[in-house]
Amino acid sequence: MLLDHEKENILHLPTPIEYLPNISKDLGIELYIKRDDLTPLAMGGNKLRKLEYLLKDAINKGADRLITVGGVQTNHGRLTCAAARKFGLSGSIISVGEYPGELSANLILDGMMGCDVWIKSPEAGVSDSDIYDRIIPEVTAYYENKGENVYFIPMGGSNEIGAMGYYECALEIASQIKGTPLEGCRLVSTIGSMGTYMGLFAAIANEKLPVKLTGISILLYDDIRKYALDYYNRVADFLGLPYKAAESDFAVSDDYQGIITDYDRGAYNNPCKEVRDAMYYMAEKEAIILDPCYTGKTFAGLMEMVGSGRIKQGETVLFLHTGGAPGINTPHHRVEIEKEREKFIHLL
Ligand SMILES: Cc1ncc(COP(=O)(O)O)c(C=O)c1O
Repeated sequence: MLLDHEKENILHLPTPIEYLPNISKDLGIELYIKRDDLTPLAMGGNKLRKLEYLLKDAINKGADRLITVGGVQTNHGRLTCAAARKFGLSGSIISVGEYPGELSANLILDGMMGCDVWIKSPEAGVSDSDIYDRIIPEVTAYYENKGENVYFIPMGGSNEIGAMGYYECALEIASQIKGTPLEGCRLVSTIGSMGTYMGLFAAIANEKLPVKLTGISILLYDDIRKYALDYYNRVADFLGLPYKAAESDFAVSDDYQGIITDYDRGAYNNPCKEVRDAMYYMAEKEAIILDPCYTGKTFAGLMEMVGSGRIKQGETVLFLHTGGAPGINTPHHRVEIEKEREKFIHLL
């Protein structure tokens, strides 16, 4: 029970916090990692914390199917389906994008769990959000006509209910770091649909937790601080939180380097050499696998912030690993990784 809201228990909490000695030495910072990639169900990831609360709401409302939206290889969709299955419900994902031509990465996991994935190709001159507005009711009606009670979860599970999962995570981090060198550390979180960052922010601000939050966006927002403030206000209303936020409160970065602002190298889920290099570095130094869409990009940003002095030498940093590793097997990422790492294969 958090702030009067119940949840279903999916996770084995707390997730571990680990020290990364090799990278710490290399970069001249004290780097720790919070392993939210090590969550159970269908290869894990951050969405399960949000889904604990969303699922409870769905079950309370008598749902027998969870429907969500996202890119064709959505991690959130995979975990929504996983949570549905574990609690005896059905799951569906609606995507605007191109079918990659093979069942791999998240799609094969969705298929293994027997969840429906509805894919609509983008249309010239029509925004993706207009297409979603048209196809979500169509797909919903398909199930409702069969007598099913559908519960809709927005992109990334990032609404007021979903944010509670990361509100709770911030409390968990605060109790894990109490009396350790991590008290007062900088917590670095990925921002996609922003529910993860917002839950953390809301808890840190309202509970006065000894953590400084930095969000690194993996996609371009029109005005990220304005969006964050609107979202925070909705969360604060819903949960009855007293803290009054201002746009300047949000330490969010979508400009830390060309990776984000240069479309070809860094637009949402595009293959990007700097990101893959950051992934190889983490894998070679600490044997931790990041993903090419979210955590690899955030870690590339974190390293860039160390290089430019925005993260100071000697600083203690806690990097939130939000999962996503199945994305490595998306064809357009896998092909690049294969080309670059084939040199390690030796045929005898
Ligand atoms: C692996 C991974 N990390 C981070 C995020 C971003 O989380 P949020 O959408 O809450 O900002 C996502 C969202 O899909 C994700 O799949």
